[in-house]
Amino acid sequence: MEAAEKEEISVKDEAVDKNIFRDCNRIAFYRRQKQWLSKKSTYQVLLDSVTTVEDSTRFQIINEASKVPLLAEIYGIEGNIFRLKINEESPLKPRYEVPDVLTSKPSTVRLIPCSGDTGSLILADEKGDLRCHITANPFKVDLVSEEEVVMSINSLGQLYFEHLQILHKQRTAKENEEEASVDTSQENQEDLGLWEEKFGKFVDIKANGPSSVGLDFSLHEFEHLYGIPQHAESHRLKNTRDGDAYRLYNLDVYGYQIYDKMGIYGSVPYLLAHKLGRTIGIFWLNASETLVEINTEPAVEYTLTQMGPVAAKRKVRSRTHVHWMSESGIIDVFLLTGPTPSDVFRQYSHLTGTQAMPPLFSLGYHQCRWNYEDEQDVKAVDAGFDEHDIPYDAMWLDIEHTEGKRYFTWDQKRFPNPKKMQELLRSKKRKLVVISDPHIKIDPDYSVYVKAKDQGFFVRNQEGEDFEGVCWPGLSSYLDFTNPKVRGWYSSLFAFPVYQGSTDILFLWNDMNEPSVFRGPEQTMQKNAIHHGNWEHRELHNIYGFYHQMATAEGLIQRSEGKERPFVLTRSFFAGSQKYGAVWTGDNTAEWSYLKISIPMLLTLSITGISFCGADIGGFIGNPETELLVRWYQAGAYQPFFRGHATMNTKRREPWLFGEEYTRLIREAIRERYGLLPYWYSLFYHAHVASQPVMRPLWVEFPNELKTFDMEDEYMLGSALLVHPVTEPKATIVDVFLPGSNEDTYGHIEGPPGLSGITSLSQDL
Ligand code: GLC
Repeated sequence: MEAAEKEEISVKDEAVDKNIFRDCNRIAFYRRQKQWLSKKSTYQVLLDSVTTVEDSTRFQIINEASKVPLLAEIYGIEGNIFRLKINEESPLKPRYEVPDVLTSKPSTVRLIPCSGDTGSLILADEKGDLRCHITANPFKVDLVSEEEVVMSINSLGQLYFEHLQILHKQRTAKENEEEASVDTSQENQEDLGLWEEKFGKFVDIKANGPSSVGLDFSLHEFEHLYGIPQHAESHRLKNTRDGDAYRLYNLDVYGYQIYDKMGIYGSVPYLLAHKLGRTIGIFWLNASETLVEINTEPAVEYTLTQMGPVAAKRKVRSRTHVHWMSESGIIDVFLLTGPTPSDVFRQYSHLTGTQAMPPLFSLGYHQCRWNYEDEQDVKAVDAGFDEHDIPYDAMWLDIEHTEGKRYFTWDQKRFPNPKKMQELLRSKKRKLVVISDPHIKIDPDYSVYVKAKDQGFFVRNQEGEDFEGVCWPGLSSYLDFTNPKVRGWYSSLFAFPVYQGSTDILFLWNDMNEPSVFRGPEQTMQKNAIHHGNWEHRELHNIYGFYHQMATAEGLIQRSEGKERPFVLTRSFFAGSQKYGAVWTGDNTAEWSYLKISIPMLLTLSITGISFCGADIGGFIGNPETELLVRWYQAGAYQPFFRGHATMNTKRREPWLFGEEYTRLIREAIRERYGLLPYWYSLFYHAHVASQPVMRPLWVEFPNELKTFDMEDEYMLGSALLVHPVTEPKATIVDVFLPGSNEDTYGHIEGPPGLSGITSLSQDL
């Protein structure tokens, strides 16, 4: 191992240093939006600008202060979905609109303008059961379904749109003078980070200046919201405090803190809201850094001033305000009107696609470790499973299997004969999964590097040269997967003749694709790095990993000439990543609290389209006590992606290393998984064809039982199996809520002390 690597690894071994990452108050667009919103300046619809163009209704909105016209477009989409787009009417240059996430051009439904009162416009679908009511001044949209106002847009007046401007230094002195009334002092500009934003030693120079957008949504009578992964947080979204919004910004956070709203590896800017009788969704299609504030106002009843003999009482319904803010791009939002959870799942997958159907083996147990050292080690671990009669399906190799972290190669000393090793696994119907990260070692003798460099396939820096950053191999450049040509070329690297030593039992693991850049701002890429089409990294940061997995999955499909389903695990993801494979929750820790939080984290991923998800069994960082390891296997056997993994300086933890009793318990857990494999496979089929999540929070299956809305320690697998994992040390009893009756029904499940499993179920009614 090179000295530089050692240093990186030891840096990574410390607990998460929050100073490396920004909180809201250190994010300039957040501060700008807050400052501006406090001024309460409003937008107004110009009603005489309303036109119908193709399938959309368009109109201008104008801000009373800035006077820069925005163009709003409203579409009706098949399956009871509304789409609202807001952009500048004539921006200085095009603003980024996220490509490649929507499965196809959504099929639209004509919305017919009906006359409203003066000062308003009503749009309705032909049947008239879906309507939106647009108020002109101040601009507000009410969504009405079945005569009920379900959601209001901009009712708090938080519409915010920074129009593109010419760089202030290029303006004439005269223009600057004219603008003197607006405070343009250097100090203030820096503070608001308009053209330049500092964070520690990093300076983000913004060639396009400020370009952030924001909008609020009020959800009437909704108090339960879920979604917007990925956070190590509870399943139900919490109210946010000032400066503590949910952050969607893909970051490599080793040993991430739990119960925290900071951004980690992936982002799905989509949330669901549920109440008795209705579920809805908001999908905010934006790939730049995004912040979401949630604020529930409970129902109140208050007495109006006495105006006669009797005091009047007024009831104000509860509602939840959701405030989305993104650093750049446009406002492009899809409103999914349900009304049932399963309708919302269908509506979302109509837009972004369904879960890819996994190959059967990938639903079995996976054995991973950073690292299995060499072919001997692989052989011994593989034999260990047979010896102890424990089934498993895939052996995994981490970064050390390569020649100096040059992906697509093999370390000649440790893995001199990779094909032979795969033949051994094949003889037992097992598979091999190897890692392939997006950073490419800068090395003129490494053919992948040379070819990518020659063809201009790397992300570029401000100077127009290849972007360089440090990751596992040392100094590296990063493939620009946003470029379809780069994706095509990368896919071709998986062809059997090109990927030396690979066979058709070799599958893939994409890691570090946030992208992770050691010593970069927040351990990632500078926002002003340049991608294909001259787009700044800022515009598309959250979708980088999505493209990496897309290209890898495509490569596996191509190498089998379209005959075999791929398996690709990714750490970073975006809305729609479900189409390309599986996701895991990154570098968790071997502590009970991380086992416990794996459930809400996976439930959240599951309801936002990503059914194939899991957490590292045992906890990646540290050494789990044996009881925790066993409980983790027992829980993991009932989670969709089932893989044991551990970091490099941990003790070995193959299932048979803890004595006969524990081996037996782990064997039983893994066998339970295999016993249910046909059920898992059917559930995935159902997710693939009918959009229903595999792992379901109780509220999804029991949408009329209020009690289920907050539950995250138990869940349903499909509609037939209730799972309540044990996540506490020394537990001999768990109380399991039994949904499905209107009574409070608990099952009291007892097991003998120790870990001999749970043996009896008694119901306390
Ligand atoms: C990252 C991954 C981890 C992997 C390691 C080395 O930390 O999250 O799973 O083992 O990199 O590749």
